[in-house]
Amino acid sequence: MAHAMIILALLLLASSHPRVASADSVLGRKAGAMVDEPDKLAAAPGKYAVIFDAGSTGTRVHVFHFDKRMELVEIGDDIEVFAKVQPGLSAYAGRPQEAATSIVPLLETAKSIVPRWLMRRTPLKLGATAGLRIIGEEQAEQILEAVRDVVHTKSNFQYNPSWINVLEGSQEGSYLWVALNYLLDNLGGDYAKTVGVIDLGGASVQMAYAISPDTAASAPVKPDGKDPYVTKEYLKGRDYNVYAHSYLHYGSDASRVEIFKAKNGSFSNCMQRGFIGNYTYNGDQYDATASPQGAAYERCREDVAKALNLSAPCETKNCTFNGAWNGGGGAGQADLYVMSSFYYMALQVGLIDGDATSGKTTPAAFRAAAEVICPLSFEESKAAYPRVRASNAPYVCMDLVYQYTLLVDGFGLAPTKEVTVVQKVKHGEYFIEAKWPLGEAIEAVSDTKLSQES
Ligand SMILES: *[C@@H]1O[C@H](CO)[C@@H](O)[C@H](O)[C@H]1NC(C)=O
Ligand SMILES: *[C@@H]1O[C@H](CO)[C@@H](O)[C@H](O)[C@H]1NC(C)=O
Ligand SMILES: *[C@@H]1O[C@H](CO)[C@@H](O)[C@H](O)[C@H]1NC(C)=O
Ligand SMILES: *[C@@H]1O[C@H](CO)[C@@H](O)[C@H](O)[C@H]1NC(C)=O
Repeated sequence: MAHAMIILALLLLASSHPRVASADSVLGRKAGAMVDEPDKLAAAPGKYAVIFDAGSTGTRVHVFHFDKRMELVEIGDDIEVFAKVQPGLSAYAGRPQEAATSIVPLLETAKSIVPRWLMRRTPLKLGATAGLRIIGEEQAEQILEAVRDVVHTKSNFQYNPSWINVLEGSQEGSYLWVALNYLLDNLGGDYAKTVGVIDLGGASVQMAYAISPDTAASAPVKPDGKDPYVTKEYLKGRDYNVYAHSYLHYGSDASRVEIFKAKNGSFSNCMQRGFIGNYTYNGDQYDATASPQGAAYERCREDVAKALNLSAPCETKNCTFNGAWNGGGGAGQADLYVMSSFYYMALQVGLIDGDATSGKTTPAAFRAAAEVICPLSFEESKAAYPRVRASNAPYVCMDLVYQYTLLVDGFGLAPTKEVTVVQKVKHGEYFIEAKWPLGEAIEAVSDTKLSQES
């Protein structure tokens, strides 16, 4: 432990870039319930999993500990160990060694947590998301190769080169589905008892839900054979067919670009009266200045509908938008959880309680909020909705119209359908954030079907 700390300190001195954040935004928060009496299974060593989330703004490590029943158990005084370095791997494009060195402090953190005698049985996986997808395959692969080398030579965790990779968008979606349904205690039963999820991230939006074996068998195959619509999961003794699809360019930040591109004339119909400025995304600038009369709900909705490519040809039975298969619907989608930007918006414009970590609402409530907010001037809106973050405030009308249109016209939900907006799920005595690394950890430590049967 002392050794690990010294290495960490040396690394921090040696390099100016990487910064290690303490366990700040840890997912767990005690819910104040009474602790169950200790039980023998929980006291057994169980299994650990080390999951690296290599995002565009930073690399994070999550260390989870499960007991023999696959229940999460405490590490230290929390339910996971979490640490982060900045910047993300993609900031080291063309400098793969530096990229690999940047994660060493996180590797040391993981090594200091997992008992030495369990390391060889503890899987270590790294999933790179949008940042590494954007820098191109060759540079991404160089970085991943250097990272594999560092992981393999500097630790004894269970290692497989294919576990250190760029995550497909749909994989991110299906891991999130695993995490959410795990936290809700839905796994181990019929697929119809699971919930579906729509996750509105910054760059992309994902939908994932379980489908019937028949629907899975007739799923369309993607032309390039990559990123399939359906993945098979074997969890708590049950097979699940998980439909997942990720729409790049349709996340909350990226969608604004598509909406600006769709504008008719020189002003966007989605910008509130009095706003002057540019929108910057991925280094490009878009004129965001409002027209003299400001935003208009109906006309903004036309721009948004155009941006969603609703009329793109559907070559695969029923589609959501932009030509993607909708998964066929069904029982696994009946109860729907919507996350990330949906949650923050619902919280900030008052669709759910002030500090709730989840709540119920409808797409129509997003529309009603848009109809109130779009006619306001930018200044009036800021005064009326002080909880909206400053960087998002100019786009609150656009984002609300987008979120409504995405749910109703994009994903085909009835406006009055009740959905759950969620950030954290109460699981045992903790409130735990549903995020894909937890799903990947669960999958990594789950028994495989073969070893179950033999
Ligand atoms: C653009 O706006 C004008 C005036 O409001 C309208 O007549 C025209 O049909 C619109 N064009 C498109 C492509 O929506
Ligand atoms: C927006 O960007 C353009 C082009 O870079 C620049 O000329 C203009 O001054 C910017 N407008 C504002 C309000 O920052
Ligand atoms: C919308 O669809 C067209 C073809 O139908 C495609 O060329 C275009 O790239 C799509 N837009 C986005 C943002 O994916
Ligand atoms: C496709 O949509 C139609 C009309 O909404 C519906 O009747 C049909 O069951 C759907 N088929 C599939 C495979 O989802």
